[in-house]
Parts: sequence; structure tokens; C-alpha cells
Amino acid sequence: MKPFPQHLLSITDLTRAQINALIDFSQPFLDLSRDDIRKASTMRGKTVINLFFENSTRTRSSFEIAGKRLSADVINISASMSAVQKGETLMDTGQTLAAMRPHVVVVRHGDSGSCHFLAKHTQGTSIVNGGDGAHEHPTQVLTDLLTLKNAWGDVKGKVITIVGDIKHSRVARSHLLAAKIMGYSVRVVAPKTLLPLHIEKMGCDVFHRFEDAIVGSDCIYMLRIQNERLKTNCSFPSIREYHEAYGLNMARFKLASDALILHPGPMNRGVEITSDVANHAQSQVLNQVENGVAMRMAILSTLCGLEAL
Ligand code: NCD
Repeated sequence: MKPFPQHLLSITDLTRAQINALIDFSQPFLDLSRDDIRKASTMRGKTVINLFFENSTRTRSSFEIAGKRLSADVINISASMSAVQKGETLMDTGQTLAAMRPHVVVVRHGDSGSCHFLAKHTQGTSIVNGGDGAHEHPTQVLTDLLTLKNAWGDVKGKVITIVGDIKHSRVARSHLLAAKIMGYSVRVVAPKTLLPLHIEKMGCDVFHRFEDAIVGSDCIYMLRIQNERLKTNCSFPSIREYHEAYGLNMARFKLASDALILHPGPMNRGVEITSDVANHAQSQVLNQVENGVAMRMAILSTLCGLEAL
């Protein structure tokens, strides 16, 4: 297997063998996270900084818990408490933090390409993309692949139907790239206003009617409307109409009742998904969260040159 890259900026930084290795490395971390004492000392002496310029519940806290469970020193910086508020540039903030010699900096930022920019302009630290604008979210997709692999054994040949605001979703984009590496196929379902132009060139099948896409899906992956990235309010007539056309309700779910239901969170119940479906036994939403900690333990360990437990 090729050595792991210094940074994790895009899912395409990893080969299929490396993705499978991260999934394998995650398994003992899943066990550790279920032990009474949830602590190992493998990352003792390593420093992780979470640098978050956008809101986050899952990604930030799972990197924090992941680092702490392995005994790393973890600090969290959010834009509201950083010198960005005093006019400092992203480059200066990044270089300042890198000068404190952390092993890993996990970055979430509203601008696409910001993590690549920091990786280019800092030395001696690994940058992890915790979500950059509408561009990529590789650690979420690795978490999803762990969830799907543990449910199915393999993702190869499976059909994943991604529904909602594809245009502004970094999760959807990373899945479209991962599908080519891992050999699964992606269907996308959205109104035309929430699809990027020429999306079919990314190798997916495009649907505008939810019912047409759902039959034959192995996984239905629901997305939130990224209101913070919508430039106008006219991408769809109203929340009610959006829900009627693109919400996952029980009647639609019954068209593919063996499918797994995934959502990266945060869910907007009653908009893209009804509560009965979100709470259904096929829903993997909380498994995704649990697996997210184990996968981030595997990612942090690997970037620090450590392998499995
Ligand atoms: C996603 C994100 O931030 O891109 N959430 C996450 O990291 N779990 C999806 C979203 O915000 O809708």
C-alpha cells in the first residue's frame, strides 16, 4: 500500500486500499469506544487543534473525543473566539497555529479550497479538511463508508441515492468522488435549482422525481438544505412544497424498504425527512455519529504515523 499522505484534504488523496485500511483501523477504536474505560495512550504527546470557522456539533466534537480517547492534547478554536475577529487573515491564523507545532490541525471553513490553501502555506503539520465550503468533507464520507461496510460487508456495486441540496453539499461532492474509488454508484435527486450544472459529468445518474430514483436503491442519503450557502430564496417555492417533492416519508421509504437511511446531520425533521423515517430501524444516523469517532481516531492516528491499536 502507498504511504498515507501528509494531509487529508480530499477523499481523492486516498486510494481504495488506504480507505479500506482506515475502515479496518477503525474497528478496534469502535470496540475501545464501547469499553468501560474509553482511553488508550497511543497519541500521548501529540497535539491536535480543531480550527472551526463554521458551526459544527458532530465533526468538531468527534475529532475532540477521538483525540482525547487516544490521550492526545486537543484544543478547540472557533472563529468567534479567535483573532480573525480582529482582522487577522486565514494565512496568518494558520501560520501562527502551525508555529505552535501541533501534529494535526482540523479545519472547517466556509470557503472552498481554504484547507488546500492552509496546507500549502504551513509546514510541519497535517491539515485535515473538516468541511470547506461546498467543496469537500472527506472525513464524513469515510465515516459513512465505515457505516455502510459494517452493514453490508462491501460497498462495491451498491446504489446510493443522494437527495436534496446537492449543489451546496460538500458531503455529496466527496461521495461522488469516493464512488469512483470504491466502485459504488450514485443517483442524485434534486430540483434543478439545487443541482450543479453538468453534474452528470461526475458519473452519477440524475433524477428530478424522488419516486423514480428510490426503487432499487440500497441506501437513501438525505441532505439538509444548506440555507447558509443559498444566495437567494428562490431555489424552491416553499419549505412545504420542497418537503412534498423531496422529503423522505414512510410512503416513499416503502418503495425501497430494505434500504439504509443515512444523513450526515444536522437533520431538519419535517423538511428533508419525517421523524418516523429518521427514527426507523433502518436509519443509520446515530451509527454514523458513533462510527465518526472511531474513524477520526483512525485518521488522527494514521496522520501521526501510528497504526491500529
Ligand atoms: C455536514 C456539513 O457540515 O457539511 N454536517 C456534518 O459535518 N456532519 C452537513 C450539513 O451541515 O448539512
